[in-house]
Amino acid sequence: MSQEESPTFEARLSEQEYYRPPPAFIGQANVSDPDIYNRFDEYPEGFEEYAELVDWDERWDTILDASDPPFFSWFGGGKLNASYNCVDRHLEEYGDKTAFVWEGEPGDTRRIAYQDLYHRVNEVAAVLQSVGVEEDDVVTLHLPMVPELPITMLACARIGAPHSEVFGGFTAPALANRLEDANSRYLVTIDGYYRRGEFLDHKRKADAAVEELEGDVDTVLVWTREDELHPDTNMVDGRDVLVADLLDDHRGDHIDPVSRNASDTLFLMYTSGTTGKPKGAQHGTGGYLSYVAGTSKYLFDIHPTDTYWCFADIGWITGHSYIVYGPLAIGTSSVMYEGAPDHPHKGRVWEIAERYDVDIFHTSPTAVRMFMRWGEEYLEPYDFNFKHMTTVGEPIQPEVWRWYYTYVGHETAVIVDTWWQTETGGVVISNLPALDDMKPGSVGRAMPGIKPAIFDEEGNEIEAGSGNAGYLVLTRPWPGILQTLYGDDERYISEYWEEFSDTESDDWRDWVYKAGDSAVQAADGYYRVMGRVDDVMNVAGHRLGSMELESVIVEVPEVSEAAVAARDHPQKGEVPDVYAVLMEGIEPSESIREEVVSAVETEIGKFARPENVEFVNALPYTRSGKIMRRLLGEISNDRSLSDTTTLEDPDVPERIREQVHVS
Ligand code: PRX
Repeated sequence: MSQEESPTFEARLSEQEYYRPPPAFIGQANVSDPDIYNRFDEYPEGFEEYAELVDWDERWDTILDASDPPFFSWFGGGKLNASYNCVDRHLEEYGDKTAFVWEGEPGDTRRIAYQDLYHRVNEVAAVLQSVGVEEDDVVTLHLPMVPELPITMLACARIGAPHSEVFGGFTAPALANRLEDANSRYLVTIDGYYRRGEFLDHKRKADAAVEELEGDVDTVLVWTREDELHPDTNMVDGRDVLVADLLDDHRGDHIDPVSRNASDTLFLMYTSGTTGKPKGAQHGTGGYLSYVAGTSKYLFDIHPTDTYWCFADIGWITGHSYIVYGPLAIGTSSVMYEGAPDHPHKGRVWEIAERYDVDIFHTSPTAVRMFMRWGEEYLEPYDFNFKHMTTVGEPIQPEVWRWYYTYVGHETAVIVDTWWQTETGGVVISNLPALDDMKPGSVGRAMPGIKPAIFDEEGNEIEAGSGNAGYLVLTRPWPGILQTLYGDDERYISEYWEEFSDTESDDWRDWVYKAGDSAVQAADGYYRVMGRVDDVMNVAGHRLGSMELESVIVEVPEVSEAAVAARDHPQKGEVPDVYAVLMEGIEPSESIREEVVSAVETEIGKFARPENVEFVNALPYTRSGKIMRRLLGEISNDRSLSDTTTLEDPDVPERIREQVHVS
């Protein structure tokens, strides 16, 4: 595909035709009766339907406790264990059924039946206890896409220890940061994993992170990718322990699942916000598990006989909710893949789909754009047949959607676009696949029981069909909602609620959740999400805060100030552009540019690599001292400049533009 044929941003804005879900799909769907929307309109009672999908040790007595907004508690009085729900309860009927079929990048495979999963989870729970992990201790995981990741998560859940998985692509400083914020004394890692044919030493990141924290982490549990520890892996005496050695002492152990309160924490998931400090979204047990089980069944339309593949990384919320907790709670057989989609060839994904006879396929628009760029010839040799496909994480351009529909879905699969966030726990805006027509580029209507709205700056609702975009908000709580930001209730209120809520009120109706996205709602009620409205960008489906990058860049000795803006990118959606002011007397040079790029790669991860580094004389500050990144974004994307009158020096952006477009 040539550059001119690249998907355009503007194309998203024109009205698109509908596509009907195929009758064969509708005939087999878990939900084909539109009455579901009425049932969930009984609020909050409707959500009990999701909670009924889960086994409770004690049934809840309150559906929603909204007495202390915005700290909402679902299914209060109820007790349950997530690991029991994802594993034990399936044993009788589905013990031999595949829970995961995992494929390593070099081609090694492992099939893990529910029975095997049960044994592994119990043994690992015993291992965690043997090193001192107790209920409510936060265990940090830094694991790539290996079966040991879901196994360790479920082992933590079994003993009531919240896990905090840090995406494997994050480097040591990012890991240290998250370990520290969570006060986590336990770290679980692995010697390495395969990526594009290479064995990557992963353990060294744990070493550097723990060293940086100077003694806060006392135990590092180390899995091995192969049977034996990789010979180059460094092990620190008295701190690092091989899981395999401990497992030898705990073969066949059974650990009773701890009965957790619905409101007890299940996990933390760090995500980027508008300050340099990542925020730990804290999810509870009862509401979260009910919500992801319900949406897995009704939206992903998973049946016990299906093979489901969520082609995403468990290190982000998508994998937590829709590879681990949701699908396992409803007894799904899932595919997991370790490596790169183009290794050793660009047909790898379709080869896997054919090999395991995948029925339901879930991925990101960035991945679809990549497949589209590679070309349909890579799909043609493989015989796979999806009945249901989804996308998540970014807006999908209509022409990308149509390519996905035609070449991946063979015009017979239904497609749903799913809008949600780390904070929402599960999908909140999407069409139910058998009930609503598909419309390329739109995420569709609200999920049952969810009430989104679009607000203008003043908090007035913008009518559907007006053509005006505004702030996307959610006007009533739902069971998957985060409980708070770990250790920072104030930031929780200021980031999500303050702007559109009456924070004095103790009536939940006065509290409105601000998602941080802009959206527009068509007359048919379908939402189109345009992107973030705060200083957060979406790079190939990875969420990145401008300030997170800036705080790393200003550590480069020659740099005095830095601002990061998002540039539209045909494949990755967005990429960061850096605008840096150098110290007095320092001249711009290629080596400083490289230093900046390498600082981002080593402090955060390669996925955050800046596209451009521009050296400028000054940044656009407002009179109150805030950097107006929006103006830098307009420069990066060669758009006309919006209002500059609030700037300390209104000529700065024009000067930057001249400088950038000349160089
Ligand atoms: O900007 C929205 C975008 O991704 C953000 C949430 O990122 P994260 O917490 O990392 O979770 C990603 C996976 C759920 C949102 O604020 N986003 C997510 N889904 C969509 C989307 N943008 C457009 N369309 C979507 N379907």
